[in-house]
Amino acid sequence: VLASRDRLLELDLTAAPTQIRVGGRDASLYAFNGSLPGPTLRVAPGDTIRVRMRNQLQDPTNLHVHGLHVSPEGNSDNPFVSIAPGESFDYAFDLPADHPAGTYWYHPHHHGNAADQVAAGLYGAIIVEDPEPIPVARERVMVVSDLTLDTSGNLPGATSMQQMMGREGDMVLVNGQLRPQITASPGERERWRIVNACPSRYLRLQMEGQQFRVFSRDLGRLPVPEETTEVVIAPGNRVELLIETTEGSSALITTPVNRGGMMGGMSGNRSDNGSGNDGAIELLTLEVSGDPAPTQEAVPGGPALRDLRGEPVAGRHTLDFAMGMGGAMGGGGTTMGGGGSAQNDSMAFTINDRKFDAERVDTSVRAGKVEEWTLVNSSPMDHPVHLHVWPMQIVQDGDRDLTEPRWQDVVNVPARSRVKVLIAFDDFPGKTVYHCHILDHEDQGMMGTVNAR
Ligand code: C2O
Ligand code: CU
Ligand code: CU
Repeated sequence: VLASRDRLLELDLTAAPTQIRVGGRDASLYAFNGSLPGPTLRVAPGDTIRVRMRNQLQDPTNLHVHGLHVSPEGNSDNPFVSIAPGESFDYAFDLPADHPAGTYWYHPHHHGNAADQVAAGLYGAIIVEDPEPIPVARERVMVVSDLTLDTSGNLPGATSMQQMMGREGDMVLVNGQLRPQITASPGERERWRIVNACPSRYLRLQMEGQQFRVFSRDLGRLPVPEETTEVVIAPGNRVELLIETTEGSSALITTPVNRGGMMGGMSGNRSDNGSGNDGAIELLTLEVSGDPAPTQEAVPGGPALRDLRGEPVAGRHTLDFAMGMGGAMGGGGTTMGGGGSAQNDSMAFTINDRKFDAERVDTSVRAGKVEEWTLVNSSPMDHPVHLHVWPMQIVQDGDRDLTEPRWQDVVNVPARSRVKVLIAFDDFPGKTVYHCHILDHEDQGMMGTVNAR
């Protein structure tokens, strides 16, 4: 058992405009500490992390530790903090001693700037170490992002169409690299910690020629790794894969996910990219050759997952994610700027008919209790719904009841469908947010506040 406050980790993170080579071109991006992605934070349950975050951008920013179960207030993971250009802010995150291991990430979360800042390169991985070693030959952290560069290497601003659909970049990068090549020997087991840091792109990951098992989704680990041929992760989701290597060359690809659209025929996917077959995009190549590695021990089963079904439910809420034409849905039905200066006054992104207001409390919950939330999507487009601090157990997806406990912190709610989740509001009172993790939607108002007390 780890004692609380085992270690103190200190880190300076500077968000600044940075010149970086991307896909053989000079790009003007934003980066943490000059690198794409930013530094990987490795921590253990019980640790305290102190981060001095400096803002050298032209716009306000802040820092969010996505998926970590830490206090939502004060100098911790507070989505309402605003760090002005030129200023800095001292964060302190105390991880509980029983914090789930897994792959998490960090990114800015300043309302109105999140999509632009993440798209420009501000993201990094957080690893919460396992209590016991997992027998693998090596592990790799893979932060997947996408971006578009114009001919001078700058990021073009998102068009209103891209803001409506959620922007997808032309280049899909792994750790800032375009189609990197990695190598292994036959018979090795690798653990891949994959973060979907794209502002809007869903990834359907596939790899032929290699055995591929899901080890973790978002947090913790599965009791038994699941063998599969593909895995879909929405923006914000993470997945850990176990790969048992076989001689040969294999590509990790992503193929399009139909996430709906506004007008018939328009989809959120691009197919003008990569190899061109069915819109498949190659993320990386794995070359397996050489002498076979000695056989590795089997991966031990994970602990049984908590199952909130059977625990008393103290409250029920319905959140309705909607997109409306006309821009009249924000703030009680007033129309927005008659002069047409705002780019997006043709579209409103709302939850229960309201746009985000940091001052309002949208959902009150009792700290320490379990609640059932029904996430309704009445729009023609999928929305990946994310709640800070407290993970969600998915119990019903459309009409399908889940039989095994399944935990995630980003839950995709398909167009014109609904997902029921159970949430245990353990440990921390305080106010934080839930939102669509298509960051363009979040910035346009598809975010609400929750207060646990
Ligand atoms: Cu990764 Cu509130 O977001
Ligand atoms: Cu988050
Ligand atoms: Cu959305």
